[in-house]
Amino acid sequence: MDTAEIRRRFVAHFERAAHTPVPSASLLLDDPNLLFVNAGMVPFKPYFLGQETAPYDRAVSVQKCVRTPDIEDVGKTTRHGTFFEMCGNFSFGDYFKEGAIELAWDLVTRSQADGGWGMEESRLWPSILHGDDEALHLWMKITGLPSERIVKLGPKENYWSMGVPGPGGPCSEILYDRGPEHGPDGEFETTDRIEMPTKLEDRYLEIWNLVFMQDELSAVRSKEDFDIVGPLPRKNIDTGMGLERVAYLLQGVDNMYEIDVMYPVIERAAELTGRRYGGPGGHEDDVRMRVVADHVRSSLMLIADGVTPGNEGRGYVLRRLLRRAVRSMRLLGTEDRVLPELLPISRDKMGETYTQVHHDWERISQIAYAEEDAFRQTLRAGTTIFDQAAADVKSSGETVLSGERAFALHDTYGFPIDLTLEMAQEQGLVVDEVGFRELMGQQRDRAKADARAKKGAHVDATAYRRIADSLGAPVDFTGYREVVSEGSVRGLVAAGGVVESAREGDEVELVLDRTPFYAEGGGQLADQGVIELDNGARLEVRDVQSPIRGLVVHRVKVLSGEVTPGAAAHSAVDVERRRSISRAHTATHMVHKAFREALGETATQAGSENAPGRFRFDFSASGAVPATVMSDVEARVNDVILDDLSVHAETMSQAEAVKSGAMALFGEKYGDQVRVISVGDWARELCGGTHAGRSGQLGVIKLLGESSIGSGVRRVEALVGADAYRFLAREHVLVAQLSEALKTRPEDLPERVNDIVERLRAAEKEIEKVRLGQLLAGGAALADDAVDVGGVRLVAHRVDGAGGADVRNLALDIRGRLPQEQAGAVLIVGVADGKVAVVAAVNDAGRARGVSANDLVGAVGPLVGGRGGGKDDVAQGGGTDASRIDEALAAARATVARATQG
Ligand code: ALA
Repeated sequence: MDTAEIRRRFVAHFERAAHTPVPSASLLLDDPNLLFVNAGMVPFKPYFLGQETAPYDRAVSVQKCVRTPDIEDVGKTTRHGTFFEMCGNFSFGDYFKEGAIELAWDLVTRSQADGGWGMEESRLWPSILHGDDEALHLWMKITGLPSERIVKLGPKENYWSMGVPGPGGPCSEILYDRGPEHGPDGEFETTDRIEMPTKLEDRYLEIWNLVFMQDELSAVRSKEDFDIVGPLPRKNIDTGMGLERVAYLLQGVDNMYEIDVMYPVIERAAELTGRRYGGPGGHEDDVRMRVVADHVRSSLMLIADGVTPGNEGRGYVLRRLLRRAVRSMRLLGTEDRVLPELLPISRDKMGETYTQVHHDWERISQIAYAEEDAFRQTLRAGTTIFDQAAADVKSSGETVLSGERAFALHDTYGFPIDLTLEMAQEQGLVVDEVGFRELMGQQRDRAKADARAKKGAHVDATAYRRIADSLGAPVDFTGYREVVSEGSVRGLVAAGGVVESAREGDEVELVLDRTPFYAEGGGQLADQGVIELDNGARLEVRDVQSPIRGLVVHRVKVLSGEVTPGAAAHSAVDVERRRSISRAHTATHMVHKAFREALGETATQAGSENAPGRFRFDFSASGAVPATVMSDVEARVNDVILDDLSVHAETMSQAEAVKSGAMALFGEKYGDQVRVISVGDWARELCGGTHAGRSGQLGVIKLLGESSIGSGVRRVEALVGADAYRFLAREHVLVAQLSEALKTRPEDLPERVNDIVERLRAAEKEIEKVRLGQLLAGGAALADDAVDVGGVRLVAHRVDGAGGADVRNLALDIRGRLPQEQAGAVLIVGVADGKVAVVAAVNDAGRARGVSANDLVGAVGPLVGGRGGGKDDVAQGGGTDASRIDEALAAARATVARATQG
């Protein structure tokens, strides 16, 4: 049964049981605790947490997930994928344990002819949380299995929470026994196992996890250590079935990498490298091919959802996946570009379900291929540096490559440590890994401290969550309609904990129930302003963040008075700043639209920053944007500004938004109501930011330039409104000053400047000619001064003010002036700018007498603190010591004398 069919049957099974099908959300949901969506329930979190009311009682989804903590296990086990799809059914206060077990058991055991998986009961082992007798009896009743066929496990395996205070509960898993060839018998009948032994995981494969959310947790310290406050008022069901796991069982293959949507990549990797999967290369080769299949697929899906390679966060995960794929192919024996061969295969397979990878293919492939090219370059540069480092270590008789060296390779050249380790081993060296890790740790700490200092966001969100829970509803953001609002203080946070008051001079984080302050997000910087309390206290708002959904946190400094929860608050946004940021945000949408008109649909936004009066816009493009496109885009946007289109916001369903032609930004949750901003009916985009009321309010925009910020991403910086005007005015003054100084009209400036530059060049050339003429004129006098040394006419002289090329010209000129038939040799030592240049030239007759230019330079070089060499007829060298030039000239005479005696 192919994967698509398994997916289809799963959804159909639950739709028949009155579940609403919900499409997969993007991998990038806005959640401070998660880099990527890693479970089917993530998009439903607000419902489970009671922050929002679920619009349905029952739902079914097949959610894209990425998990990377186990990246090292990929390919080595049968079931670790960095990308996977989780099939899940959810009940929000509707059916509970009994319903969940019945529905799952029915699908798993029902015959294939009848729409199920048709798994034999004798292979299935349900598990429960040890002590959950309710679940035990339900399993026995529904499946007819005896108690000893039901595995009892401890909380590490069978208690599930989100890792934060909130709902949690016991779970039940369905394990599938793959048979004795995959591991020892479970002995479940005799012991109530508390932990699943690792050695059994390959044999007893967990295919489905049913979570019975019944408890309210007040603290979660680890998987086994948490505090239950009491039962939840409404009990929920959250389940997760691993699509790839079921697929590999039903397709009769050995592991998830061999299923229909992944195996073709393995086949292509084998072709490209000339290795055979399951062939003589053994386990190591097979693991590498599986890593390639997994990572290529994950990269495809991540780029499709808007991730671009980078050095931190999500970008780093993607970079690591792409590089590991390329590197694995190298270890399999090919140094060619591999992604253009592999990625399209994954696209064709995944595109059957996720058609977006076809529509967006140009952008996706550009990003992936550019990253591979960059990595190939890194490998080339880093390999040279590595070889140098290895040679240094060896020449000093050592065998250890220091942690600093390995770190420098990593930090400066992006050279992965595993590569350094491997290459060192090939050269018989070891790497000081402990030292390396220490330096990495220090760097990470620095980066974390920086990030914390910047955002003031505490890594631990407990305090925020406490306040959010006490609010009972999301903070009411009034800032779309007004810039002054009334509300009340609902919580204070300082040093990561909730506090009860703050005094004059304190810097704290403050939560209001209603606020007009926009929290930084979607590229738009935070508002600033002032909050006044009814007790007379005054607070300056310096930054605003939304660390968890539905919560707005103001970073304030208390200017006077005291702040306590409950006080009524009068909030006033700095209107000038807000307007200026809003203009920048609207301008960003317009520039985005204009670039897509000019460059095509692949020019999608990859990031932005909207600040007062200026904005930055990053987008995908394969190379530099031509100057003509830049000026066309600028002109187009300024035209639309003059058209004075109205800018309006509407809330609609995702489907309506797509139908209206809105450009979707990444990270939006499907199925949600979305906010769409339209500039006339020209630029339409999903956006939560604030905007100008009409395009005319932007006044004017000025693009300052564009540059590359990494693989396939360009950055445009621009000014808007008064800032754009001031920039243009300043340029105008500069032009006026130039035209005054050059006595010409502004429009003639370029020609005038060109003209001046050309004349300057011609004059320089002329001066050079004259100087050389003078130098060479001196040559005639020097030739006349030649002395006889053992029958050789020798000119040995010091010339001040002459550098390398002049010295050479002069030496050759003098040689030409000496009589041909007579042996002759010239040695000129020039001194200019503290450098010494030495040139020797010997004529044919001189060489016949045994005089060599190379010997002359060789004799002189050490005396001027340098060296050099050449042939018998002409040789040159240089040095840095001008103090012994007389000795050097004497040495030249002695050398000639010796040669003639020989
Ligand atoms: N949320 C549960 C899991 O991820 C189903 O295993």
